[in-house]
Amino acid sequence: MCGIIGHVGDGDALETLLTGLENLEYRGYDSAGVAVQNGSGIAVQKRSGKVEELKDAVTETSLEGDVGIGHTRWSTHGPPTDENAHPHTDGTKDVAVVHNGIIENYAELKSWLRERGHEFTSDTDTEVIPHLIQYYLDEGMENEAAFRRAIDELEGSYAVAAMLSGEHVLYAARKGSPLVVGIEDDEFFLASDVPAFLEYTDSVVYLEDGDVVVVDEEGIEFTDLAGEPISREPETVDWDPEQAGKGEYEHFMLKEIYEQPTSLAQAIEGRVDPNAGQVSLEDFEPGTFEDVDSVQLVACGTSYHAALYGSLALNQAGVQATALLANEYSVTAPPVTEDTLVIAVSQSGETADTLNALRQAADEGAETLTVTNVVGSTAARVADDALFIRAGPEIGVAATKTFSSQAVMLTLLAQRIADDVRGEPPADLESLLPALADMPEEIDTLLEESAADAIAREYIDSQSFFFIGRGLGFPVALEGALKFKEITYEHAEGFASGELKHGPLALVTPETPVFAIFTGEEDEKTLKNAEEAQTRGAPVIAVCPDGHRAVEVADDHLAIPDTDSDLAGLHANVQLQLVSYYAADLLGRPIDKPRNLAKSVTVE
Ligand code: F6R
Repeated sequence: MCGIIGHVGDGDALETLLTGLENLEYRGYDSAGVAVQNGSGIAVQKRSGKVEELKDAVTETSLEGDVGIGHTRWSTHGPPTDENAHPHTDGTKDVAVVHNGIIENYAELKSWLRERGHEFTSDTDTEVIPHLIQYYLDEGMENEAAFRRAIDELEGSYAVAAMLSGEHVLYAARKGSPLVVGIEDDEFFLASDVPAFLEYTDSVVYLEDGDVVVVDEEGIEFTDLAGEPISREPETVDWDPEQAGKGEYEHFMLKEIYEQPTSLAQAIEGRVDPNAGQVSLEDFEPGTFEDVDSVQLVACGTSYHAALYGSLALNQAGVQATALLANEYSVTAPPVTEDTLVIAVSQSGETADTLNALRQAADEGAETLTVTNVVGSTAARVADDALFIRAGPEIGVAATKTFSSQAVMLTLLAQRIADDVRGEPPADLESLLPALADMPEEIDTLLEESAADAIAREYIDSQSFFFIGRGLGFPVALEGALKFKEITYEHAEGFASGELKHGPLALVTPETPVFAIFTGEEDEKTLKNAEEAQTRGAPVIAVCPDGHRAVEVADDHLAIPDTDSDLAGLHANVQLQLVSYYAADLLGRPIDKPRNLAKSVTVE
């Protein structure tokens, strides 16, 4: 998730671009850049770091221009360096491009262009776009035709804005990544999101996939990729600029819960091919893990729950794996050999406990890998390899979208590792891949139809909140309880369903609702455990598909789709995130910044 901005109009574009980038920093903040056009061509300033640092750099130069584009980056290909920051050019600065999204066929395009003499200076997928445009210009095409032709070559997702030397025009195209146009008389803005230009206009056109726009001082033209005119009408938005980063949501946490269809689609994009029946994970070619004899996953908090989910997925796929709390690793780590793979799971990639465990495992000779959201993070630099979950920045202290993306990435990784270790793909891959491809849309529907708000209201006055699950439902029960206690400040506990009768049942009363998670793994046993609590007076809320036999037994129901058991718990988790959110809201808690907690815990 990155932020892009473009401006065409009277006067200097630079201030508008820099203001827009500051307003978009919630979409990414590891590097930033601008390109402006004036009589002497295209000038670019870009650097790693925050927009503030770019501003300082720009102030020291005499950069000015009346047409421009800008970008604030959340890295997906290559670390946050000056070279990898956008805008990217074709080398001669005849073409400058900013991009949000993922170009899946960039490696093929890059080698095709290299064979034709193009030289690249960054690790990004984006850099192929200005080179492609330049290639078609060299072939004799007009500017607009060269832009359209280059866009037509791209596979994957993109919101792209481009500027070509010598004309006061911006070209933009959208497929799978957001792009909006702002209009104020003869001044035009392009951006990933409305807050970018809300100071200047409230008149907005939301572009759709396949749209191409060409903007100059005379006006704006909306067409499809083939150049056929299409009709797009401006709407007026009534957002308060202060609130705008959260869009229509009252809190970042709710926004991030609702972003899950997009963040999950990004996580799996280009990595899952249901038709070919394959998982392909960037650098991890088939055979990468063939020497692995066991896996240890180390993490803290929510990431530990994702790690536990991953370890169970590995076990189910026939690979020996254990999830370990990173803060316990220095005293309890099982022995490692060079055939042990240690995976550090961390949203931030900066958690001190997790980094310590990672370093210890490396010192003792293990192979290391991190699954993280932050490309330039310490974990990504310390580990031998990194796999990025591509969830975009998470502002709410309570982790939500990053948990589901971590769990999905670990599920995919489990398939890849099992395939290498056992020499054949796990048996359930055939049902998992289509279920994964359906997941973003199913979560969209779940969010639309959720009864979580009503459930939170009904049980808000309870004394304690219990969460139970079996198999992959167990880490989800732990995560449901962690989220609940973290943002409501109420007592909540997660248990393996079968453990209730070994002690916790003593706590059960009519004042302790039990959320029972059904994932299709020995559900009859979980149902029996839930009934044992119900017999002692506890209300049971079944988190399961419509039509499941638990719906009959339970007092209330939160619906999930009837999906593959490898993923059912992650759908259930979204319902539980919503319950926690609405409960905390009813109690008036500071949801995005719960007391005593920090987003990234960089001390032991
Ligand atoms: C809970 C939460 C924390 C983090 C934990 C690890 O909502 O966010 O429990 O999961 O502090 O942080 P990372 O994943 O950055 O290593």
